[in-house]
Amino acid sequence: MHQLQFITDSHVIVDAGTSDDASVYKIGDDLALVQTVDYITPVVDDPYTFGEIAATNSISDIYAMGAKPLFALNIVGFPISKVPIKILEAILQGGAAKAAEASVSILGGHSVDDDEPKFGLVVTGVVHPDKVIKNSTAQAGDNLILTKPLGTGIVNTAVKAELASEESMSEAIRMMKTLNRVASEAMVKVGVNACTDVTGFGLLGHLHEMVEASGVGAKINLSQIPVITGVWKLVDDWIVPEGVHSNVEFVQEKLEWGSHLPEDAIYLLCDPQTSGGLLISVPQAKTDELIKILADANVETVTSVGEIIADKENRIYVT
Ligand code: CO
Ligand code: CO
Ligand code: CO
Repeated sequence: MHQLQFITDSHVIVDAGTSDDASVYKIGDDLALVQTVDYITPVVDDPYTFGEIAATNSISDIYAMGAKPLFALNIVGFPISKVPIKILEAILQGGAAKAAEASVSILGGHSVDDDEPKFGLVVTGVVHPDKVIKNSTAQAGDNLILTKPLGTGIVNTAVKAELASEESMSEAIRMMKTLNRVASEAMVKVGVNACTDVTGFGLLGHLHEMVEASGVGAKINLSQIPVITGVWKLVDDWIVPEGVHSNVEFVQEKLEWGSHLPEDAIYLLCDPQTSGGLLISVPQAKTDELIKILADANVETVTSVGEIIADKENRIYVT
């Protein structure tokens, strides 16, 4: 990404320079467009559920900016001559159902013949130009709130090896299908300093982007990290996704790992998430209010998992 030439004009509020979740473009004094694109390969066997998860994952980047999603376009890759078309229809129906739950209309899209199915959305949303919640404005002293438990990548890997329990599987699916809408509306209401959603780079990867873009460091309290049922056991048995290793490499240089902590816990903190939760950087004085709103709205994991610290080296201390 660092080699890309960014072409910007004065309307641009957020571009790819800070590895944020979506682009933001000001079109008036009180209105900015927020746009994102995301598509994934199947993480579950059931096509309708895959559609729901992929749509939830795509819309999440709009919520992570504190914006309101309005409409979307489908992006589809599908082996048209090899797989029955009713599978594709089920994927699209699942996507449309989730979009409807988010009050998002799907207005069209594009598909290509592809060996491996792929599905996702281009999503357009709106936000007040002064109310954009970036990933680059975390402040020392903020608490870090994570709104979904970690472990979906590990569970998906275990499912493929037929090693996942029914309980882990259903919890992971439920989490992947949960819109970040409630969490996003809560943080907008309270007013927070920064946010990103936790997806392919894992918790530490996305936190790394946040602290680097914000010019700060962070502390993560391992014992406060919410985890999907059964995931620690899978980590113990070395059931981890391939992608975790490049995520570990991505953050390793900036990582200060507590010597008393189990080393394999890094696989959980770097586990690539599909449709993960929001990682919210909230001022200390507003933390209790945010946690209360989230808890009242039944967002399951609402403890503070760490804090932002002053550190020009952008280190992440895991304690
Ligand atoms: Co994102
Ligand atoms: Co994304
Ligand atoms: Co970088």
